[in-house]
Amino acid sequence: FHVDWDIITAEKAGFDHFMLKEIHEQPKAYRDTMGSRISINGSRVTLNELSMTPEEIRNISRVHIVACGTAYHAGMVGKYVIEKLARIPVETDVASEYRYRSPIITKDTLVIVVSQSGETADTLAALREAKRCGARVMAITNVVGSSVAREADDIITTWAGPEIAVASTKAYTSQLIAFYLFGLHLAQTLGTQSITEIEETIAALKELPTQVEAILEQAEAIKGVAEEMAKHDNLFFIGRGLDYAVALEGSLKLKEISYIHSEAYAAGELKHGTLALIEDGVPVIALATQHELLEKTVSNIKEVKARGANVLGIAVEGEMELQKSVDSTFVIPKTLDVLSPALAVVPLQLLSYYASLARGNDVDKPRNLAKSVTVE
Ligand code: G6P
Repeated sequence: FHVDWDIITAEKAGFDHFMLKEIHEQPKAYRDTMGSRISINGSRVTLNELSMTPEEIRNISRVHIVACGTAYHAGMVGKYVIEKLARIPVETDVASEYRYRSPIITKDTLVIVVSQSGETADTLAALREAKRCGARVMAITNVVGSSVAREADDIITTWAGPEIAVASTKAYTSQLIAFYLFGLHLAQTLGTQSITEIEETIAALKELPTQVEAILEQAEAIKGVAEEMAKHDNLFFIGRGLDYAVALEGSLKLKEISYIHSEAYAAGELKHGTLALIEDGVPVIALATQHELLEKTVSNIKEVKARGANVLGIAVEGEMELQKSVDSTFVIPKTLDVLSPALAVVPLQLLSYYASLARGNDVDKPRNLAKSVTVE
């Protein structure tokens, strides 16, 4: 009797790849990251790890979010979240640009660096530059004791657990949870959301892990679509508002591991150039989870449909109007618009995973990419 066994196979815990395992670990990562940071009665967020006083929070006049790659995309969601919940102006920048453009940093600027590994050279250099200019730096990182964690003034640790696959999944979504918690923390201190609004957001936040589980049960539905998409060399992601931020991450994920060229576009910007690239049969993934923007997104979907695109809609359950305007739909459970990225990205992660598989690529170790980039 012989059993093939090696440590890597054991670590994959029955999944074919680390990426798939990590996608499935997201409900746990959400729960762990929220953990004891939400009061038992669900009325408040408590970030005891932060040393910022209420007065220091009231003095923040602007926020800069700086990161690389997928962490930068989490930062783009973070911008919408902080601006919506706390009404503080936020700029986002990729770390390799930020540090060289003499950013306007004052003592009342809060710089948030986001890094799964906490070791990315450009992010670390941006952190040092921000500190040199007198800013307070808060880090969102997954590695306790990493360089970024050691050098930042404040840290929100994401409890995603070790992420092995080069393409980031559970670290990204845990960063979103960290932004939601921080946004609520600011809102509580600044009074920019009513107690009822805060309680509603917390209640919806607590639903997310179960809702992700429901999405993961539909994973097979994505497989067929992904196999069809894997036959194409070009495709597009469109969305407005938070859907645009998620579109960018969905597109990056697909490029990283399937090597299919794709572009993410703010849906309203399409007609200013990219529409020229839409022709018969081109796949378009349209994210349409933002209620206030739905009508506008549907009209952008009609623009690409009229040029022959094959549209997959990512829609919230019950949105029948949207479903009528697309070729196929993946439905996500109902949540607050501001929280939808934490659900909408999951089918996109699965889409890239299955597209990569269909193309016979090395899912966990895509060519030319490294998990952590410690050179500038
Ligand atoms: C590398 C990885 C990306 C990651 C980026 C930032 O390029 O391939 O997946 O998003 O670094 O990494 P960090 O550890 O700073 O989040």
